[in-house]
Amino acid sequence: MGKVKNGQKIGILTAGGDCPGINAAIRGVGKTAMVKYGMKVIGISDGFTGLINKEYRELSENDLSGILTLGGTILGTSREKPFKREGKGKNEIRKPVLIKEHYEQMGLDCLVCIGGNGTLKTAYLLAQEGLNVVGIPKTIDNDVWGTDITFGFDSAVNIATEAIDRLHSTANSHKRIMIIELMGHNAGWIALYSGIASGGDVILIPEIEYDEKKVAEYLQKRFRENKPYSIMVVAEGIRIPAKEISPARYLSRKISDLTGIETRETVLGYIQRGGSPSPMDRVLATQYGSAAADLIAKCDYGKMVALKNNEIVSVPLEEVAGKTKLVKPDNPLVLKAKNMGTIFGD
Ligand code: F6P
Repeated sequence: MGKVKNGQKIGILTAGGDCPGINAAIRGVGKTAMVKYGMKVIGISDGFTGLINKEYRELSENDLSGILTLGGTILGTSREKPFKREGKGKNEIRKPVLIKEHYEQMGLDCLVCIGGNGTLKTAYLLAQEGLNVVGIPKTIDNDVWGTDITFGFDSAVNIATEAIDRLHSTANSHKRIMIIELMGHNAGWIALYSGIASGGDVILIPEIEYDEKKVAEYLQKRFRENKPYSIMVVAEGIRIPAKEISPARYLSRKISDLTGIETRETVLGYIQRGGSPSPMDRVLATQYGSAAADLIAKCDYGKMVALKNNEIVSVPLEEVAGKTKLVKPDNPLVLKAKNMGTIFGD
């Protein structure tokens, strides 16, 4: 580490759920690697599947032009988890062994893994197997440990906020309770931020246990106080006592029964992950990508690029792997929202 090594050959893959900003990150790594360090850049198809099946191609600078604003990933993605044991038979070919073999056959000096928690854990395990790996955190969920923010999150919050803004007018016209369910896996970051940005009256997140009766009482009180409608922003990961339906559907029935007020639900779904990244995500992803190439040039492997206190830094993958960054119930945003009368159901 320390001295810059030019002319390395690097592979880039994108894995896990897609999100806005991935192409900006690919462009950031690729252009910096080519222009500044004279590296060769190999684009690997469909996450770890491409490394297992040897599906890849060399990228030119032209391949990276015009992709900054594109949603999705030009490389394709998959949820392949190579370290997950599928069979216990004697002849089972271990995928990590194949990956290591192919990494060597391809003559790679480093593998850049762009992904969320699952991908970064795999990246760490591959580093343990002796591969040179650098991670870049991406996910709309914002739940990667070791970084203040992941790209994709800001775009998702923008999309969710616009959707909730639109629910206000229809809720007002019909004097209804409107429930919107947002993504986030087991974390409530998207619901918290877009709930606050759009003035949600109730925000339910997995990290704060809610009582449906308290929620119903609060909504009835709002109607008694002549507030014509209410907006409930609900994270997909909240616990409900029913398996076969979505949290929004469950709550819609329950809240309507408990309050007697007409209630409707919307599940925003994959719209939150689609389309062009926000300017903030473009900037963040570009910085992460470029910083990843700088790490590789210094042969500073086994790290993930991150944002801490508004500065681009790197953290060991070992510190990140297997952890999830959740909303703390005493997060300042939660407390501020509570001070203003928003309830979280606790
Ligand atoms: O991690 C991103 C995310 O969109 C989560 O918010 C959601 O729970 C999950 O992916 C959906 O996964 P899939 O694309 O496999 O349906």
